[in-house]
Amino acid sequence: MNKTLKKIVSKELCPDGTWRLTDSMRSTLKLQLSRLPRGEVSEDERRYPKTSVGMRAFLVRFFTRHILQTQNSLFDYMISEDFLEIIRHGNLRILDIGSGPAVASLAISDMLRYILRYIGEDKNWSMGKRLDMDYVLNDTSNMCLGTGQRMLADYFRIIGRQTDTMVRRRTISIQRAFPDNMHQIRRIMLNIGFYDIIILSYVVSPLDEHAGLSGILTGLRALETLCSRRGRIVILQDKYETTLMGQIGRALGEPSRRKESRQEIFPIRNIKEIYTYWYYCCLYSPVTKAIATQNRSA
Ligand SMILES: C[S@@+](CC[C@H](N)C(=O)[O-])C[C@H]1O[C@@H](n2cnc3c(N)ncnc32)[C@H](O)[C@@H]1O
Repeated sequence: MNKTLKKIVSKELCPDGTWRLTDSMRSTLKLQLSRLPRGEVSEDERRYPKTSVGMRAFLVRFFTRHILQTQNSLFDYMISEDFLEIIRHGNLRILDIGSGPAVASLAISDMLRYILRYIGEDKNWSMGKRLDMDYVLNDTSNMCLGTGQRMLADYFRIIGRQTDTMVRRRTISIQRAFPDNMHQIRRIMLNIGFYDIIILSYVVSPLDEHAGLSGILTGLRALETLCSRRGRIVILQDKYETTLMGQIGRALGEPSRRKESRQEIFPIRNIKEIYTYWYYCCLYSPVTKAIATQNRSA
């Protein structure tokens, strides 16, 4: 079944090996852009937006690229038995650290919508009609958290008529910086359950400035204990952070791989443009890792 699922979903999201934004995601992005003012911004503000002008610049430059890289990175996992088993239980909990405007959360939800569309039609599929989605967004920028809440709400409104399977149940925001906020992340987990996907997309570079490598590793090890049995931690970062991603991968005992993603640019500039991006991805199962460590020391 997974081979068929892979074929069908990739035909929709990644035709001919080129990832592209779905119509619903384009509408969500266009709506948000229409609300934000244009203006000159510094490179730092474009990357880590705190103002509405900066948010617009971030969305134009990075939104599509990061959405599609997240989908490229998580595709195989999201059609795996481990993931299908999670959603069979009717609930998916996403922890999005350094969420920006909920970029990774939107990427996961949109890909999931296509996966559900197919498995919903499969007669052997035992899941009920409804999948409850819980989002925990963490960002130090209030502008990012507010925009993320709005974009998730818009996205669900836009897809509303097309699906009755995926329901946005809770969206919780945490503004305190990671990893100083571990007690909040843990408290929320006690309330909603273990996180199924914990994602840190394009945030390890500012985290390194804030907490240093040892702070990042302490935070990640604490996050591992909050991940569900079949869940995953995923860390994405651009190709320029070779040293930092290598150090993180080695310290965690999980390789950080160089990945390639061929993508269509959106918003379109002049003509239809296709780019190939290189980036780093570290994706692993904390539970499998813990079992392997136990077996080694037994
Ligand atoms: C480059 S953006 C990436 C946004 C999004 N994850 C993506 O993939 O497009 C990095 C985000 O991390 C946030 N950030 C920086 N330091 C942080 C920290 N210590 N804890 C939580 N968020 C942080 C910034 O405010 C910014 O919105």
